[in-house]
Amino acid sequence: MNSTTGDRANGSKPEEIVVLDFGAQYGHLICRRFRALGVFSELVPNTITSEDLLKKNVKGIIFSGGPSSVFSSDAPSFDHAILEIGVPILGICYGLQLLAKEFGGQVSRTGTREYGKATLHITDHKDLFVKIPDKITSWMSHGDKIERLPSEFETIASSDSSAYAAIRNKEKRLYGVQFHPEVTHTEGGTKILENFAFEICKCKGAWQMGPFIETSIETIKKRIGGEEQVFCALSGGVDSSTTALLIHKAIGDRLTCIFVDHGLLREGENEWVVKILKDSFDMKVIIVDARVRFLDKLKGIIDPEHKRKIIGEEFIKVFTEKSGEMGPFSWLAQGTLYPDVVESAGTSGTSSKIKSHHNVGGLPSEIGFKLLEPLRDLYKDEVREIASILGIPDEITKRHPFPGPGLAVRVIGEVTNEKVSICRKASEIVDQELKKADLYDHVWQAFAIVGDDRATGVQGDEGIYGHIVTIRVIESDDAMTANWSKLPYDLLERISSRITNEVPDVTWVTYGVSNKPPATIEPQ
Ligand code: XMP
Repeated sequence: MNSTTGDRANGSKPEEIVVLDFGAQYGHLICRRFRALGVFSELVPNTITSEDLLKKNVKGIIFSGGPSSVFSSDAPSFDHAILEIGVPILGICYGLQLLAKEFGGQVSRTGTREYGKATLHITDHKDLFVKIPDKITSWMSHGDKIERLPSEFETIASSDSSAYAAIRNKEKRLYGVQFHPEVTHTEGGTKILENFAFEICKCKGAWQMGPFIETSIETIKKRIGGEEQVFCALSGGVDSSTTALLIHKAIGDRLTCIFVDHGLLREGENEWVVKILKDSFDMKVIIVDARVRFLDKLKGIIDPEHKRKIIGEEFIKVFTEKSGEMGPFSWLAQGTLYPDVVESAGTSGTSSKIKSHHNVGGLPSEIGFKLLEPLRDLYKDEVREIASILGIPDEITKRHPFPGPGLAVRVIGEVTNEKVSICRKASEIVDQELKKADLYDHVWQAFAIVGDDRATGVQGDEGIYGHIVTIRVIESDDAMTANWSKLPYDLLERISSRITNEVPDVTWVTYGVSNKPPATIEPQ
């Protein structure tokens, strides 16, 4: 990952397993599995050079899976000097086929894609498969397969359809598996990754959030000169609050936070910012009431990207005005996370931009701030852990993620006061009912969406033509893919009847049942 615009997570270069991204659907999952095992891991473009890899404290390399065939003319490859670095490499699926082809094996097209569960017979338990049973269920998703072993490789597992489901060159410490150890459908998959990290790469497993906090504070202290001031935009969410707290611990009152109430916030969003950050942590927080200003700018705008652009630009204007009044500031702090960076820019040349997230790369260079992003290398669950260590209460750390442009992306069509208010009230009901059912912490996000579609309903004796509210409750590991949550019918019924009873001018409630992909989580 390119960290030149932001902070590195850890100035002392943690030992890491680098995942070369060949367009894998599960690339982030591989990283998260290693991090959960205590080994820092990041997804990097497959085009990374060995020179750049050597700047890191690399203990192991993963060649990820990917949608390509090694036979296609534009099959993504890698810098071959990486093979000379001498650290262990594990190729997964496409990564295995690349390695096999590289070392003279024969890979063939099967013509059909093997997709789903396959029984794996393990024939060697020395390193990659330590403490893995002889027979396990694994998850496959591939079109090509190895027909002849590359020279100096041996087979260590087979499946019914593939004699070479796992291969090894022990001397060169090169490994390849046809299946996906990172997905939960593979029995013992995490143990296999653990074996790679500890048995083969000899990692120490020191990646933890406690030490991260200390090194991050030290790094911030070193980066921010003695007189320099930092300006931090709080959104009310856990990411920007944690960013601000880390910086506050490093430089105290040289940090000024700004909280812009753009009128598109969740219920009670700004109260806790004042209560906790300002009052309990004694941070310098300015609250700007910009509700009218944002709504005016959004009048008549229906295109989602246009809305995002307007909100982003208006934010920058408010920042610039306030920083001019309060400054001078040399730094702007942001709570950008790792998946935001990857989804906006794309790790590999193959991933394309889906929507612009205004908090990533949205600041024009002429704004004149240097960017401070201490969470840029982290996943959400890691940030929540840090927040909790720093003393941010559970109700905040466990609050669902919320997009920077706020309810504007959940109000389809023109953003009006009425629709924003329906969206906010209905979302609050969804939250309350999920908490009562003890399901809030088990889903990734839950909210209401409102557009201009209307439907008839009856109130008392009168027929009314009110709004349709759509509920979206989704389950996800990292927001890159997501499934709609199969909530119990009686819960959906309670949510629906509370919304139609308690939120004025709503007659119908529907439930969003699209997964990501092909849908995205937010409707816009
Ligand atoms: P999508 O809708 O792209 O959302 O599947 C993935 C995750 O990102 C959040 N999201 C945003 N966050 N600015 C943000 O800061 C945005 O413009 C934005 N759009 C989506 C979304 O809530 C989900 O968690």
